[in-house]
Amino acid sequence: MFLVHPKRESKKEIKLFGAVQICDTAFLVYKNSEGNIVLKSGGDEKLQKRAVKNMLKKNPAVKQLLNKYKIKPSINTKTLKELAGGHMNETCNIAKGVYEILAGSCEPEIDEATVKEASMLHDLGKVLIPSKILNKPARLNKKEREIMNIHSTLGYELLKTQGVREEILELVKYHHQNLNKSGYPEFEHEFSQNLPLGMQIVSIADKYSALREARVYRRKLSRIESLLILYKEVREGKIHCSVYEALVKYASLYDSDV
Ligand SMILES: [Fe+2]
Ligand SMILES: [Fe+2]
Repeated sequence: MFLVHPKRESKKEIKLFGAVQICDTAFLVYKNSEGNIVLKSGGDEKLQKRAVKNMLKKNPAVKQLLNKYKIKPSINTKTLKELAGGHMNETCNIAKGVYEILAGSCEPEIDEATVKEASMLHDLGKVLIPSKILNKPARLNKKEREIMNIHSTLGYELLKTQGVREEILELVKYHHQNLNKSGYPEFEHEFSQNLPLGMQIVSIADKYSALREARVYRRKLSRIESLLILYKEVREGKIHCSVYEALVKYASLYDSDV
């Protein structure tokens, strides 16, 4: 696979919103006529508009969601590149580590590749969240929070039309769901069904990765600070203690706390 600049692409060569792994990182991509993978890098407004139009035509559910929350459809490519190179990649590394530690003591019902792929794609929906909300250097108000919270469903809907496996789609959709089902979106399975282990792994990896990164509204937290925050969530019933223990082990082995 090759990364090439999209400027040279002709209209009929565009096929946006395929998700693929390139050098261990997931990108939003389209293919050119030679079958090469092209990373959407922005800068060409005409191409971007056409791509958005094409994407909405293929995704009525996405269109509906954007209309409902009055979000102007545009792709936040800067966010995409930052997420793919940073947070989603890091979440993938943590999820892989936690999975392997847990697999040493139990037999997970899900395979490692599924957990890794879902982690690499989990925040894809953020490319449609307006950057003024995504990068607001202060606490989000109620309406902004509602918009921010649809990113997991947007990611799910975007990937659904791309032949991504159902197991991966589910993990993307519920990566903000908690063990006690207090997260979002509502867990639509049987009420008695426990939150599957794969979802718990992606969720804790996402949380830990986010805490260990600087945000526009706060500094990067230390390993201990991050683990203490997540321990509070164990006590609140949001995280299973075994999954938390696996994260602590992962952090002590692989997180150098810089
Ligand atoms: Fe997320
Ligand atoms: Fe995330």
